[in-house]
Amino acid sequence: MSLILKYENVHAYYGKAHVLHGVDLAVNSGDRVALLGRNGVGKTTSVNALLGISDIRNGAITIKDKEYKKPHHYTAARHGISVVQQGKFILGNLSVEENLRLGAAVGRKGQWTLETVYNLFPILLERANTPGTSLSGGQQQMLAIGRALMANPELLILDEPSEGLAPVIIEELGEVFCRLAGEGIAIFLIEQNLHLVRQVAERYYVMTKGKIVEEGMLESQSIEELQHHVSV
Ligand SMILES: Nc1ncnc2c1ncn2[C@@H]1O[C@H](COP(=O)(O)OP(=O)(O)O)[C@@H](O)[C@H]1O
Ligand SMILES: [Mg+2]
Repeated sequence: MSLILKYENVHAYYGKAHVLHGVDLAVNSGDRVALLGRNGVGKTTSVNALLGISDIRNGAITIKDKEYKKPHHYTAARHGISVVQQGKFILGNLSVEENLRLGAAVGRKGQWTLETVYNLFPILLERANTPGTSLSGGQQQMLAIGRALMANPELLILDEPSEGLAPVIIEELGEVFCRLAGEGIAIFLIEQNLHLVRQVAERYYVMTKGKIVEEGMLESQSIEELQHHVSV
């Protein structure tokens, strides 16, 4: 088990707003870990710190054996970490296929190509030449995941992938995440949907007010016990 990603005492800001107050967490190869927490506690800001969007002013993020105090937006992708950002970020003036190709631009070579992504999500092949934003919400999430896979990550970070989607689509995405985990991709799942969390993750962190306040194994926790960590 080798370390892929580690946050040590990460304090992050937007301008003067101090949002992360010393985040500590670690993700190893093959890990299936969830990050739970209510709205506004700093989950997305933690992802943004890795992407250089929020500003780290104390502490650091380590990717494999290298420490970054100021990561760039492409640092993670170059080193085997793909992020599916909250809200999907599909580019509407690009086709589905052009969106997918973007994912390969900063990533690494490997088993994930247009062909294998289309095998995973056949609907994307059917819609390959249409604008990305003409897809339904569920299809756009598949496109965002496909684009992330095109970089051939060892670790896939998913920020609230179920947001706004129908239960049947969420179930389908859960099966995809389990399949990817089964193929050896580590999964870091930020989610409010606890059924999806239980389906995919083995352990969890809980964030409150910009800090990790609890961690544990999911099998020992019922949905009811987890509920108070995420309810708004
Ligand atoms: N671009 C921004 N500028 C200033 N404050 C922000 C910005 N984005 C988020 N915040 C604030 O940072 C806090 C954490 O937000 P966020 O990380 O999005 O929470 P979560 O993902 O856990 O719901 C919130 O108080 C939010 O209002
Ligand atoms: Mg968020």
